[in-house]
Amino acid sequence: MSENRPAVTARAPAKVNLLLQVGPVRDDGFHDLVTVFQAVSLHEDVTVTPAADWGVSVEGAGGTDVSGVPLDGSNLALRAARLLAGRAGVDEPVHLHVRKEVPVAGGMAGGSADAAAALVACDALWGLHTGLDGLAALGAELGSDVPFGLHGRTAVGTGRGEQLVPVLTRGSFHWVFVLDPAGLSTPRVFAECDRRRGPGWTDPGADGRLEAVEAALRGGSAEALAAALSNDLAEAACALAPHLTRTLAAGRDAGALGAVVSGSGPTVALLTDSAAAARDVVAALTPEVGEGRLRTASGPVVGARVLEAVA
Ligand code: C5P
Repeated sequence: MSENRPAVTARAPAKVNLLLQVGPVRDDGFHDLVTVFQAVSLHEDVTVTPAADWGVSVEGAGGTDVSGVPLDGSNLALRAARLLAGRAGVDEPVHLHVRKEVPVAGGMAGGSADAAAALVACDALWGLHTGLDGLAALGAELGSDVPFGLHGRTAVGTGRGEQLVPVLTRGSFHWVFVLDPAGLSTPRVFAECDRRRGPGWTDPGADGRLEAVEAALRGGSAEALAAALSNDLAEAACALAPHLTRTLAAGRDAGALGAVVSGSGPTVALLTDSAAAARDVVAALTPEVGEGRLRTASGPVVGARVLEAVA
């Protein structure tokens, strides 16, 4: 009987893009990317419990505002669970409880982490043993960042961002994230990027940025990585949310080695060279942005995994 099965909790990480190189728009509407993802220690926990019907509930952890998260069939964790059930021929509904530490619509792939954690939790609950590659293929149907939420650590992403190759890294990197109460729509930021480029834009292709990020990661140098951070969506994000320019400058003024818009924004990622330096940046920024908008985290961390099975 499915109701007698234990609940399973899985945890998946947020990401920051160390490099986000945006190529031309494709026929399917997505853009070809060359990106470097790093998984960081802000997490989503998804608990799945056998239930009479499919459902989802959401809770904000550490002050995360979850008011923008849908609780209907469009919820990404719920879609992930139902997709896996459908493909595996499982007819055992679950209730999903999502505990969110990652900012909503913040450019840190919180929704994708929900999907990744839901896939791992349901796979364990139903005893499917799908494997990482199988779950990643399903995840790619749900969103470009879901496969990375499953893999975690540090990886180069190509295609839509769903084709991943691990990157050699040394040590940990220490981040401060400046959250934005507003949120930005990812499609809107990509569209603004296209609009700013105009119809005559041609892709300059490889320009050494990827190699610079890879060398900094191999060497474990926060200073070199800070110098190599770049994001082709930053200009578009700053055009749609002009205060981000000031946030980036404030982060540098507060002592961060580097500052970059995370993904499509509006979260700003500040790189520091130690956990203590990250705390100093938080202290320096608090009077301007308020402590409630600041989070510290480190990376790389592992991808989605089962946390516990409560008998
Ligand atoms: O795959 P995901 O659902 O995260 O994508 C959200 C939106 O972001 C897409 O509908 C598309 O507008 C944009 N996007 C893109 N190119 C990518 C990834 C996302 O244009 N590689």
